[in-house]
Amino acid sequence: MAKLNFGGVEENVVTREEFPLSKAQQVLQNETVAVIGYGVQGPGQALNQKDNGINVIVGQRKNSKSWDKAVADGFVPGETLFEIEEALQRGTIICYLLSDAAQIALWPTVQKHLTPGKALYFSHGFGITFNEQTGIVPPKDVDVFLVAPKGSGTSLRRMFLQGRGLNSSYAIYQDATGKAFDRVIALGIAVGSGYLFETDFKKEVFSDLTGERGTLMGAIQGIFAAQYQVLRERGHSPSEAFNETVEELTQSLMPLVAENGMDWMYANCSTTAQRGALDWWKKFRDATLPVFNDLYTSVATGKESQRSIDSNSKADYREKLEVELKELRDSEIWQAGKTVRSLRPENQPKSDTAAPASSTKEVFSKLSAKSESVG
Ligand SMILES: NC(=O)c1ccc[n+]([C@@H]2O[C@H](COP(=O)([O-])OP(=O)(O)OC[C@H]3O[C@@H](n4cnc5c(N)ncnc54)[C@H](OP(=O)(O)O)[C@@H]3O)[C@@H](O)[C@H]2O)c1
Repeated sequence: MAKLNFGGVEENVVTREEFPLSKAQQVLQNETVAVIGYGVQGPGQALNQKDNGINVIVGQRKNSKSWDKAVADGFVPGETLFEIEEALQRGTIICYLLSDAAQIALWPTVQKHLTPGKALYFSHGFGITFNEQTGIVPPKDVDVFLVAPKGSGTSLRRMFLQGRGLNSSYAIYQDATGKAFDRVIALGIAVGSGYLFETDFKKEVFSDLTGERGTLMGAIQGIFAAQYQVLRERGHSPSEAFNETVEELTQSLMPLVAENGMDWMYANCSTTAQRGALDWWKKFRDATLPVFNDLYTSVATGKESQRSIDSNSKADYREKLEVELKELRDSEIWQAGKTVRSLRPENQPKSDTAAPASSTKEVFSKLSAKSESVG
């Protein structure tokens, strides 16, 4: 395992050079990998393993769109696609990829099939770390580990097909067979990870819950909304407010930050932007630091996990969720975004590209009318 220096701190990392696919295939040659659940991660991980020559089967409840999707993706009922319980029985490695709420509900069934020497694989530290809330306590004589791709199952598959790989974290919770390390790394490579960095279950779930509530989704939406509101209240049009808040960020800056880092971005913008951004970033850091600390505490004390379990297991969960999502979807900022996206040259019908000025005016007229009520 390579030790790499991350900004002055050494960490364990496993790369495809040092653990090639041929080694993963060898480690997994006598295993049946049962991917339980064909939602978002299930398809990405199962298809990548299949294409990598691993003996993979899918366990999915019938009469469901996910079952039909598995069939459409080439899994064959009775051969490589089974009802969940049959797949659990056949699998020697159980990849538990149901939604986190469903993992709690199905746990008694899974537990029955965890015979000695099998392995239980997760893509999230949630079930194990918060086991007082989830009730997921595996028997001592099975391996328990995780590979958590740092992105959606769709990206995992897409990048695999492009010959690239997402990075994933891995962790071993229990090594009953003495083979847990080889098994988890082989699976990490087989599901299409570009490289794997070491963590533990608790750190994986604490950082993941913080990240998605923070800069990945929650904080970024909050900051977008605040800046957009200020610009609108100070008389800017929706198109201007959206372009200066979101569009320039996602279309121009973030691809460059992804390539080169924010330090490079600061060094390669106008001197006016540079001066302002250097003056203001610490104010934003200081303003949000207490919120991030509250967030981490809420995660670490189990408040966030409990809230997630309670709300996701309610019978009317989907209806209530839809109300909240609709509010976001219908908000002016994201309605403006929809129009802005439609104006990107690549999204314009070919015949319309000749007259962008008039069509721009037309599509924004509705939003401008709305703007007066916001100002
Ligand atoms: N989403 C991601 O990209 C991502 C990224 C990294 C890690 N993870 C982790 O990967 C795991 C899987 O996440 P996911 O997003 O792929 O989950 P998901 O899409 O929400 O999973 C849905 C799967 O769970 C099944 N399911 C739901 N309720 C069920 C029930 N009561 N009984 C039986 N099956 C049920 C669904 O079947 P039906 O279709 O029939 O309902 C479907 O197969 C989670 O631990 C998650 O934290 C996810």
